[in-house]
Amino acid sequence: MPPGNTIGMTTTSGPSAEIDIRALTAPAAKVEAYLDQFLDSRALPSNLREAIKYAALAPGKRMRPLLVIYACQAVGGTAEQAMPPAAAIEMIHAFSLVHDDLPAMDDDDLRRGRPTLHKKTNEAMAILAGDALMGLAFELLTTSIEDAPLSRAIIAELAAGTNDMVAGQVYDTLPDFDESVEPLDRLRAIHRHKTGALMRASCRMGAMMGLADDAQLDAITTYGDAIGLMFQVVDDVLDVTQTTEHLGKTAGKDVDQDKLTYPAVIGLDASRAEIERLTKLAHDSIRPMGDAARPLHDLCDFLSVRTK
Ligand code: IPE
Ligand code: IPE
Ligand code: MG
Ligand code: MG
Ligand code: MG
Repeated sequence: MPPGNTIGMTTTSGPSAEIDIRALTAPAAKVEAYLDQFLDSRALPSNLREAIKYAALAPGKRMRPLLVIYACQAVGGTAEQAMPPAAAIEMIHAFSLVHDDLPAMDDDDLRRGRPTLHKKTNEAMAILAGDALMGLAFELLTTSIEDAPLSRAIIAELAAGTNDMVAGQVYDTLPDFDESVEPLDRLRAIHRHKTGALMRASCRMGAMMGLADDAQLDAITTYGDAIGLMFQVVDDVLDVTQTTEHLGKTAGKDVDQDKLTYPAVIGLDASRAEIERLTKLAHDSIRPMGDAARPLHDLCDFLSVRTK
């Protein structure tokens, strides 16, 4: 987070009021408490429970749960309605990070300012805790949303997001693109899948829990697609512009591992221009929703200027 609790924005939409980051991220605490309680309610081996909590409740930004909550509120729903998918998507995200850090994947020692789960425990536990987080996420959705058709639709949405995320990790780690696909198109495919898919699902699940109409769901989906790609472009930029200490994860990792990233393919300046373009697209998509979508607007601004 930037120093202090506010950021003054002067982005494409022109100067806007300062954003109170502390207020904007406050609902994350509710999700953490809900998730903690859910994990305590499940019958799990104690070492597995400890590993799951270490990964899922570590100090992350909780951006996906916040997207679920604010998308739900943007269409007239409440934070309480949004809790099951908010907690479920954080479990899927945590599972993706635990597996992303494994030696067979990005081979990282540091995550959220702490040793990665396989360093803290061992590889077998990290694999199994990731597996368990996926099952638990879907269990939570099946048991906590009473309206059966809505529960089914939310589960389908999370399944699609999870499958696309996994496909993105395959494109990133074991690429098998046709020779004719240009680097920038490969990059978009990687980023829209590995990161964009869970952000899109977060937004759509929130809107669905708030009983969005078709126009609202379309607007929120366009927003989710734009910030999903933007989020990973920012992640790529931070990998080359920030320190390990500040990020709480290893900086310079993408260059070391010869990853296809925005700075590597189009350079830093063009990457920053792309962040601006996607921020404007996200803002434009939710403008018709007016004040109810203000938190989504502000969260998008925060995501575009975050430094970790
Ligand atoms: C990191 O996600 C992995 C990516 C998809 C880029 P976040 O930056 O949201 O990580 P946490 O949850 O705050 O640790
Ligand atoms: C993360 O991409 C994507 C997923 C975890 C699904 P990165 O490999 O760039 O994420 P960081 O930089 O390790 O957080
Ligand atoms: Mg990775
Ligand atoms: Mg990684
Ligand atoms: Mg990265």
